[in-house]
Amino acid sequence: MTQLPAAPTPADSGSAQKQNTTLYGGKGTRRITVHDIGRAKERGEKWPMLTAYDSMTASVFDDAGIPVILVGDSAGNCHLGYDTTVPVTLDEMTMLSAAVVRGTRRALIVGDLPFGSYQEGPVQALRSATRLVKEAGVGAVKLEGGERSLPQTELLVQSGIPVMSHLGLTPQSVNAMGYRVQGRSEEAAHRLLHDAKAAQDAGAFAVVLELVPAELAAEVTRSLHIPTIGIGAGPGTDAQVLVWTDMAGLTEGRMPRFVKQYANLRQTLGDAARAFAEDVVGSAFPQEEHTFH
Ligand code: KIV
Repeated sequence: MTQLPAAPTPADSGSAQKQNTTLYGGKGTRRITVHDIGRAKERGEKWPMLTAYDSMTASVFDDAGIPVILVGDSAGNCHLGYDTTVPVTLDEMTMLSAAVVRGTRRALIVGDLPFGSYQEGPVQALRSATRLVKEAGVGAVKLEGGERSLPQTELLVQSGIPVMSHLGLTPQSVNAMGYRVQGRSEEAAHRLLHDAKAAQDAGAFAVVLELVPAELAAEVTRSLHIPTIGIGAGPGTDAQVLVWTDMAGLTEGRMPRFVKQYANLRQTLGDAARAFAEDVVGSAFPQEEHTFH
């Protein structure tokens, strides 16, 4: 990875300081680090995270100033054509993560550890995360589970690999838990809060909260000194993440209630494909300006 000049620090002065130190809208030219993410929590700054699975899409989001891009194992459903995230392999995540790293200059890239690549224990987790860091060049990895993944988190952090934890609905456990809001009962809420604190104590730099009641997510956010990143967890988290194909309207079918669709790419791309096909069938393409002599 090319070493770019360091972004100005909070010691810099004037309006340039404000611009350069915010995560979204900042002008720094080096990669955002987990330390920048920690400082955003201290400032009370909210920030966006999007998933990406390929170099071109990632470069669009990087140019748009998205500070953290997650190469999520949602690639299983949204990029690779599987029904769930469960079949996604470490080889696939390594290839997709490398493409996203190549397409970006500023965003912190977080690579997801897929199902089966860390559940055996800390040593397996370290071996898998090392591949994402060395072969793909990600700046951090994400893994699911609080208490149950603590030994993994601890060893990765001790080994110098920043870890993002993922609590609440954990899609890799879909066969056991289904897709439903987590932490509704008092006991489940208590467990989630405990898991979040345990992940923080183990050294995680951020925690994703998926499909969690808004009040509970806000309480977890207030209780932690590391940022929370919500998806279907209400407005009280430090950051928000959406799966990019949901956000941009490329995913087929009904969206879950927590998704806000900011474009209709499925319609736009379909229209473009049909217009191209009709031009070809009707001999309207190519024309003179597209032709060599
Ligand atoms: O895989 C993924 O995209 C995720 C997000 C939904 C947080 O884990």
